[in-house]
Amino acid sequence: MNITVPAAVYAQRRARLADQLGRDGIAIIPTAPERQRNRDSDFLFRHDSYFYYLTGFTEPNACLVISGDGRTTLFCQPKDLEREIWDGYRLGPAAAPAALGVDAAHASGDLDTQLPRLLENRVCVWYPFAIHSGLAARVEGWLNAVRARVRYGALCPAEQNDLCTLLDEMRLVKDAHEQAIMRRASQISAGAHIRAMQRSARMLRAGEDMREYHLDAELLHEFRQHGSQYPAYGSIVAAGANACVLHYRADTAPVRDGELVLIDAGCELDGYASDITRTFPANGRFTGPQRALYGLVLASQEAAVAATRAGARFTDPHDATVAVLAQGMLDLGLLDRNKAGTAQDVIDQRAYFQFYMHRTGHWLGMDVHDCGSYVEPGEVGQVSQRKDPLSGEMITNRPSRVLRPGMVLTIEPGLYVRAAAGVPEAFHNIGIRIEDDAIITESGCELITRGVPVKADEIEALMRA
Ligand code: GLY
Ligand code: MN
Ligand code: MN
Repeated sequence: MNITVPAAVYAQRRARLADQLGRDGIAIIPTAPERQRNRDSDFLFRHDSYFYYLTGFTEPNACLVISGDGRTTLFCQPKDLEREIWDGYRLGPAAAPAALGVDAAHASGDLDTQLPRLLENRVCVWYPFAIHSGLAARVEGWLNAVRARVRYGALCPAEQNDLCTLLDEMRLVKDAHEQAIMRRASQISAGAHIRAMQRSARMLRAGEDMREYHLDAELLHEFRQHGSQYPAYGSIVAAGANACVLHYRADTAPVRDGELVLIDAGCELDGYASDITRTFPANGRFTGPQRALYGLVLASQEAAVAATRAGARFTDPHDATVAVLAQGMLDLGLLDRNKAGTAQDVIDQRAYFQFYMHRTGHWLGMDVHDCGSYVEPGEVGQVSQRKDPLSGEMITNRPSRVLRPGMVLTIEPGLYVRAAAGVPEAFHNIGIRIEDDAIITESGCELITRGVPVKADEIEALMRA
């Protein structure tokens, strides 16, 4: 069952935004364009996240305008019987105010005539910068139309501001409705991972020719079966050495007995992403070296989870992960103590980067890599510099974001061991990542993706079932 968000919630978000525009400000928020895939086939339409956050409206060719006094105007596709026969139902401007709680609505084709009127006598225009190609030029056109009237006493806005700066901050902290949808999306995705694990064990037990796409099919089935609209991003289903390719996509490679499979996949549900990675033995039983590396990644994730709480910095889970991985790389012989030195040396010299080359998490929300500044807003001026030990580049640091209840992030450490001189052969071509989604709470964090087990023994047990 999908969760319904009352229209009043969107109205409250619009009102909160209006309060920040200044009384003489005005904001323009278009949805995403439709995009041609080939000939007369389009890519599946996905609304713009900012627009959806403020309206809950999923039709294409729409645009929302909010003025600083709180008045809202929607531009949407007009009713059109012929187009509705071909493409489906349209809400239409006449029904929009009652359905969506906006003050006025017009047909999308009226944007060019209505916008100059709406912009007249405003001081500042806000819109999302560098999101919609062509929007800045359209705003200029509308402003030019206002200028043509200044000799009659009209005022033309003289400031333009990036609306993302306001909306990113609002979206960073998820309200109860958003958290509820994200919990449900995570639950569906967890079920999909379980389904893929069990199919893998079953096919290998039956001696069947299993391919990565067979497991991808299980994910898609489970997502759609429970009302998810589509995957939140291209699913990664990587067998064996393919797991060492960070952005690998489910393909045709065989999934072999004795190999690990890394699946990074999550559904999107009603506009919200989930993002889970599990790594499991294709046949349901970890080998010794696989279990050793898996145990290390899991220990590093546990350290990251313990560091994820209100008041901590965004970078704290990453630092906790790296400390555990660095020590483990020395203990397991991935790095040679005689060359790499102590765990602190491994961290200081960034030697761990050979096997762990990404960050431990990112914001999660409507977008899988969600919006929101990673720098604490009140501390942007506190700049420090350091020299990167690997590239020699000077890096500018600013204090990392302080975590607050309602923020949602992923915790996703990994190890990717490519064949290389000096690296024990038993570990060659093993790629492992474990990724869970966490809502920050007052006292710690709530892992919303643990519907799929993470401990090696529990994965083996579920694959025997
Ligand atoms: N699936 C994308 C990521 O984990 O960041
Ligand atoms: Mn992720
Ligand atoms: Mn992921």
